[in-house]
Amino acid sequence: MNNYKINLPEKDIPKNYLNIMYYLQKYLGKLPDPPLHPGTKQPAGPEDLAPIFPMELIKQEVSLDEFIPVPDEVYELYKQYRPSPLYRAYNLEKFLGTPAKIYYKYEGGNATGSHKLNTALTQAYYNKQAGVKKIYTETGAGQWGSALAIACNHFGLECEVFMVKTSYESKPYRKVIMNMFGAKVHASPSAETDFGRKVLTEHPDSSGSLGIAISEALEGVIKSGGTAKYALGSVLNHVLLHQTIIGLEAKKQLEIAGDYPDIIIGCCGGGSNFAGIAFPFLVDKLSGQKKDLEFIGVEPTSCPSLTKGEYKYDFGDTAQMTPLLKMYTLGADFMPSPIHAGGLRYHGMAPLVSFIYHEGLMKAVAYEQTEVFKVGVDFARVEGIIPAPESAHAIKAVVVEALKCKESGKSKTILFNLSGHGFLDLKGYEDYLSGKIN
Ligand SMILES: Cc1ncc(COP(=O)(O)O)c(C=O)c1O
Repeated sequence: MNNYKINLPEKDIPKNYLNIMYYLQKYLGKLPDPPLHPGTKQPAGPEDLAPIFPMELIKQEVSLDEFIPVPDEVYELYKQYRPSPLYRAYNLEKFLGTPAKIYYKYEGGNATGSHKLNTALTQAYYNKQAGVKKIYTETGAGQWGSALAIACNHFGLECEVFMVKTSYESKPYRKVIMNMFGAKVHASPSAETDFGRKVLTEHPDSSGSLGIAISEALEGVIKSGGTAKYALGSVLNHVLLHQTIIGLEAKKQLEIAGDYPDIIIGCCGGGSNFAGIAFPFLVDKLSGQKKDLEFIGVEPTSCPSLTKGEYKYDFGDTAQMTPLLKMYTLGADFMPSPIHAGGLRYHGMAPLVSFIYHEGLMKAVAYEQTEVFKVGVDFARVEGIIPAPESAHAIKAVVVEALKCKESGKSKTILFNLSGHGFLDLKGYEDYLSGKIN
């Protein structure tokens, strides 16, 4: 009898997040370069970040502890949707005729439909503890904005979201979810902020970008006089840290299946779902236990930060308000084309993922939107889950690797992160099916 799903009991939700910084220090003896203050260009200290983030999250940002506990209250909330299932993709394997074994961790089974809730809950919790009243944020595809709206609603915080205009228009029900949980949502660039008005004056038809939306959210924080803070859905160390809960669970589930991956794949927007599934396994590569383990980050050809970007210090936002981050970047003013995978339209890559890529510990590939939607449809037909267009990028790379196995006749075990479902991305699928995307 084949087991399609490998489920863990609630008691196996990890009690701690795994901090890859500890292992990089231990096994490589080096760490990513620190963020720099945008004015002085000196390493940014906790006091520089304190106006935007609560101190507990700043501590996590620089921590070298091996494990960081999941707060009890967040742990209770995780029980509503975690552990998430690990699936064996028997039907996809059969469809492709590959000897490869394919597993995927499905993060779409919660109210927001993606992995973003894993960090939204923890971030809202620490803001509440710090006495913050309101959180400003940006959102690309709307997954992160929905997740933060849910988390803020739970902890009694106000939430205001700047949503990249192209997604605001193509995914109207994301806005409804955010409103349902009490958040205020603007299409970005908006007329609500000085920066948004400046962009609209110069580019009235701007479809928006995550860089612009971040600048608008930060302006809200600055004008709040200290009552509001900012939360980011990806890129920063503490966000990647919270997502390691995905890989920690997957490791236990694969143990039950009696397997261990040869290749681990995740799509890369800011890098958080990739890091979430990859980092707990990367420890084994760093320690020398699994030297041949491969990691592949997948991005769109229209926003190829890892495959075409430069590794340098750059701003996280268009108005150049954030600290400078050492990352693979296309430039803070890069305007990606309005593809449907809105969550992958970020000009930079997480400093931790950038560092690992620079050290040669992972590979990166980029695919075109049409080939991604094609495998998204194939996957939905055989596996019964409609993937988010972001996640379909990972599936494309899985298919490529599985077909290599078919050609060579050699079986490999492939694990990937199905970071979210595509129920609110059907406009993209509709455009693909009617031949409007090419
Ligand atoms: C479903 C989904 N997957 C992936 C991403 C990309 O973000 P990250 O690289 O931080 O996981 C997003 C971002 O919005 C998303 O909504």
